[in-house]
Order: sequence, then structure tokens, then C-alpha cells
Amino acid sequence: MFRGDGRARAVDFPAAPPWRRFTPAGPESRDPAAGPEGPGRRTALPYLIRPQHADVVNAALHLRRPLLVTGPAGTGKSSLARAIAYELQLGTLLRWPVNSRSTVRDALYQYDAIGRLRETTLHRDGGGDAGPGSRAEERPEPSIGTFIRLGPLGTALVPSSRPRALLVDEMDKGDVDLPNDLLTVFEEGVFDIPELTRLPEESADVEVQTADRHGTVLIRQGIVQCDEFPVVVITSNGERDFPPAFLRRCVQLYLPVPGEEQLRAIVAAHLGEAALREADDLIETFLRRRAPGELATDQLLNAVFLRVGGVDLDADGLLDAVLHQLTGSM
Ligand SMILES: Nc1ncnc2c1ncn2[C@@H]1O[C@H](COP(=O)(O)OP(=O)(O)O)[C@@H](O)[C@H]1O
Ligand SMILES: [Mg+2]
Repeated sequence: MFRGDGRARAVDFPAAPPWRRFTPAGPESRDPAAGPEGPGRRTALPYLIRPQHADVVNAALHLRRPLLVTGPAGTGKSSLARAIAYELQLGTLLRWPVNSRSTVRDALYQYDAIGRLRETTLHRDGGGDAGPGSRAEERPEPSIGTFIRLGPLGTALVPSSRPRALLVDEMDKGDVDLPNDLLTVFEEGVFDIPELTRLPEESADVEVQTADRHGTVLIRQGIVQCDEFPVVVITSNGERDFPPAFLRRCVQLYLPVPGEEQLRAIVAAHLGEAALREADDLIETFLRRRAPGELATDQLLNAVFLRVGGVDLDADGLLDAVLHQLTGSM
């Protein structure tokens, strides 16, 4: 496609790999629990899990405890959350990608104080301009709920007939205090929104936005209390150890790097048996290169995808570009 000759030309884009396809947001996207994956998300992808690992997942489901998934990069930690949400029909997976600035407060809800101030001022000014008895009365002042949006954690705790699924992704990237702050929320399954609890009782039932596209929920007296504990999957690459009090309250699952047989099954599940037949040498190279350092399963999938598409991977450096080590110097 790209030649680097500086000449503009029309090219046809070949089909994207299944794991890089996106579905556009259509009108059906208004229902948060509509699609198993929801709008804008990738469509259902195969996920292979060993029976003994599925047992651990089920233990967490039975105990209503968060599942803490650890293991090297690309072993399917994040995908596991998506697979659970899809298979158990828990609606769109709620995602909380953790970084060093993440706080539990922000994951619960965000209040746009500045936006509200601006809107209220505009509204009052607009009403004043037009003289007495004018627009201010026709158009009610925007509700405070318009400026409150529940985050992924807050949305997961909203009472509903089915528990929601929440992915707390790469929690080891977060601040040291994060696990302890989370502990309280996970133990009690409740949080309050002080901006709403402060309101006079008769006006304290407020509709706020949720983390779902177009989603709203009525919050009574500023308190959100779950009835079923959500299905929570926490992933960690092991960059940070978590405190014992936190670990004690999680069910732990270690996902090891997949062996050859498992890799073959994963390739076949994503790209078909025919692709697998073309991939013997790639799997062998992948296993050899993985031995000294880290390689993620999706790197093998990428290589097989290119091979099936007719790309000559033996060309200088191309295989290196796809199967490069994830750790160590560049
Ligand atoms: N057990 C598995 N079954 C199917 N696909 C897998 C599996 N493990 C990994 N993959 C594929 O590898 C890619 C990386 O998985 P991911 O869940 O992002 O890994 P991690 O979160 O552990 O880094 C995913 O796109 C997924 O398609
Ligand atoms: Mg991940």
C-alpha cells in the first residue's frame, strides 16, 4: 500500500484483523445493555481458557469477590473480562484503565462544577435580558444531574437486575493508596455524592449520567448502593505488590504464558484452521524468541494474520518488527 515514493494514489484497504474491527455507533446504541459488547467496541472474539482457570473465575463469581488476574503481557488478562461479560450477558463491559493519576473518586463519579457555573450564569443572564417574566421561567435551570457523570466504578454499583461487569485494567499502574481506597467501596458496595446529599430532601432525587453511552439513572438522596456486587476483574502486570488486606478480599488467578498447544488453539480460534496450517514455522519462531524475554500472544496472531494475507515475513526485519521483545532495551 505505502511505497514511500511521494506519489498520491488511490488504494483499497484490505480487511482489518478481526481483533481490530470496530462497530459504528448506531441508533441501537441507546440501550446500555443492548449489545454484548456495545457500540464502538470490537465484536465478539474467541477466548480460550483452561478448565482449572475457569474454576477460579467461577469461585469469584460465587463468592461475589473481585477477581485479581496476574500474569505476563498478552496472556489474555484484559480479554478475560470481556469474555465473561459477553458469555454471561452482563451488558457492555465497564472499563476503568488505571494510570498514576487515577483516583477512586473519579472512577465513582465526576462533577463538572465549572460547566454548571457557566450554564447557570448564562441561564440567569439570558433570563435577565429579556425582561421580567421571560425565558428564565419558560426554560428551567439545568438540573445539577446534567453535570454529574458516574464513572465505570460508580456505574457498576448502580442497582440493576443483572450485575454489571467491570474491568479495572492494570491496577499496578495506579497510586500506592488505590487498593486501600478501593477496599472500602468493594466491602460496602456503596458511595455517596456529597453534591447531591447536600440538596434539600424534596429535590434530592436527581437523574445523572452513567458511564454508558446515553445512559442515565435516578439517584435518590445522593446515595448509590449496589444490590448485587458487580463482576469485577482487576488485572495487574505485577509492577507493584498489593497490600495483604486487599489481596485477602480478592480471588486470585495467575494466567501463565500459553504453551504450544494452547497457542495453536488460539490461532485457530481467531484465524481458522487453514491459517494454523500456514503458521508452523511462525509458532516455532515465536516460542524460541519468547524464551529469553517477553512476547505477547497477540504478536503471534499479528504475524499469522500478515502471513495469511500474503505478506512475506522472511523479508529483512519484518518478522522482527512484529515479534519484538516487550522488555529490555530497544
Ligand atoms: N486465552 C486466549 N484466548 C484467545 N485469545 C487470546 C487469549 N490470550 C490472549 N489472546 C489474544 O491476545 C491478545 C492480548 O490479550 P490481552 O487480554 O490484551 O492480554 P493482557 O491483558 O494479558 O496483556 C488479545 O487480543 C487476545 O485476542
Ligand atoms: Mg491487558
